[in-house]
Amino acid sequence: MHTEIQRRRTFAIISHPDAGKTTLTEKLLLFGGGIRTAGAVKSNKITKTAASDFMEIEKQRGISVATAVMSFEYQGKLINILDTPGHKDFSEDTYRTLTAVDSVILVVDSVKGVEEQTERLMQVCRMRDTPVMIFVNKLDREGRPPFELMDELEEKLAISVRPLTWPISSGQDFRGVYNLHEKNVYLFRPGKTVVEEERLLVEDLSDPLLDQQVGSNAGRLREDVALIEGVYDHFSREEYLAGRLAPVFFGSALNNFGVRELLETFVEIAPSPRYRPANVRQVQPEEPDFSGFIFKIHANLDPRHRDRIAFLRICSGRFERSKMFFHVRQRKQLRFTNPYSFMAEKKSVIDEAWPGDVVGLYDRGDLKIGDTLTEGEELEFQGMPAFSPAIFKEVINTDPMRSKQFHKGIEHLTEEGVAQLFTQGKNRIIVGTVGDLQYDVIAWRMEHEYGAACRFQPLPYSRARWITSADQKALEEFMRYRERNIAHDKDGKPVYLAETEWILNSSITNHPRIEFHANSEFKLAE
Ligand code: G4P
Repeated sequence: MHTEIQRRRTFAIISHPDAGKTTLTEKLLLFGGGIRTAGAVKSNKITKTAASDFMEIEKQRGISVATAVMSFEYQGKLINILDTPGHKDFSEDTYRTLTAVDSVILVVDSVKGVEEQTERLMQVCRMRDTPVMIFVNKLDREGRPPFELMDELEEKLAISVRPLTWPISSGQDFRGVYNLHEKNVYLFRPGKTVVEEERLLVEDLSDPLLDQQVGSNAGRLREDVALIEGVYDHFSREEYLAGRLAPVFFGSALNNFGVRELLETFVEIAPSPRYRPANVRQVQPEEPDFSGFIFKIHANLDPRHRDRIAFLRICSGRFERSKMFFHVRQRKQLRFTNPYSFMAEKKSVIDEAWPGDVVGLYDRGDLKIGDTLTEGEELEFQGMPAFSPAIFKEVINTDPMRSKQFHKGIEHLTEEGVAQLFTQGKNRIIVGTVGDLQYDVIAWRMEHEYGAACRFQPLPYSRARWITSADQKALEEFMRYRERNIAHDKDGKPVYLAETEWILNSSITNHPRIEFHANSEFKLAE
């Protein structure tokens, strides 16, 4: 078990859409022999154009089941890449996937620098101190000056950075990268990827070989390197593992340049599966008893089959096919006869799996996102917070004859994590999302999968805050006084819905006895 755990590296690649996540994923898989055909990962992407083409979204959801996890072996390590949808409307799913990984690689576009979604994703990583490596991509384009990018990364992402490679110019003039650790220069030839003989060993940067190969850029590189050594501390793996320091690499995913250095360092320094916090204690991966949690659920595309696929992250022990496991929330035993894993291009039924692995389970409605499975112990893993949606709409059943289907559909879809469900008073059902597209998806799926009809009525809220107070009376009073702005989440926790940031802030100021939490798992954030 120790060997199996130590050789696993489970991570996600995250980025603002278009920075190059898909391209990088594909190149990493090529190194592992994981895919033979270029473009295989690409097809997984939620397109940027077809926002209203529901069939297209459905088709792509189907594909993304197959690539939700991609596994391959490299230098004796078993690497599990958890896919995160790139479209900004699907970021809730991405947040949840981040709870199931042990580290992340963040891709940043060298021309655009840190973008909005990069910041949001990093906030989630920071909440749980997830170790982060950064790949600055698209060096073959005229990018921003690298020192400026480093400052921006540090400032906007609130993390210390340490370059491990350094670019030699960029755009038309891009010559390659200098590996600060190995003291190598990898030369870049336009239209070509790096080849072994184009690695120059330059123990001493004053070597005239450097001038021969990169011309006038050599002087600049010498200055840059002197500055880096002077400004940045030595790279510390402990700091990286604690989530405080991000090593930075430069390259071009499209040209497969700088990717090998990234992967080689990744397998060397990235963490193997680590302990997980649960409500009653911490769970160590090497414990003999199995435990795991569900972080993602996918509906079956075939409407004749109502079953769904639940993705289980294994946290400890050994998962076995057909063994009885304890479903903590429902307090019942469940058995999975056809669990599958995702090695390379194919999905195959497996007999066992280890901590760090992700297993797909067929589910007939027993499992919800956040559920814990164990061998009998009553523990629940933490770390599946709901974040504030940005858009809130009341969902109205437009076919009262089919209200059973309506309620079932809404319940299933929100359990799957397509959107968040809130209730207000006795009858009002509110659906909150991070993007408008989800309402189209919900309406379409309600009709096609559940035979129910609905419409959405916009509501004026734009922020949700989970509220608590040490003073129960004060809380009740606040909820009465702000009745129109109070709803309950799916677990019955009270939530304050604010129209604007300004209104939210003034409520916070005016009600010091009430605590406002930005996500549903407030203990974690405090
Ligand atoms: P994403 O998953 O983060 O959304 O990004 P993706 O990999 O799809 O990359 C977005 C675009 O950037 C793609 O172009 C891709 O080819 C391009 N790209 C990725 N890496 C590099 C790089 O190192 N250099 C340059 N110059 N471009 C890069 P597209 O036109 O949107 O798609 P396609 O027509 O190339 O498939």
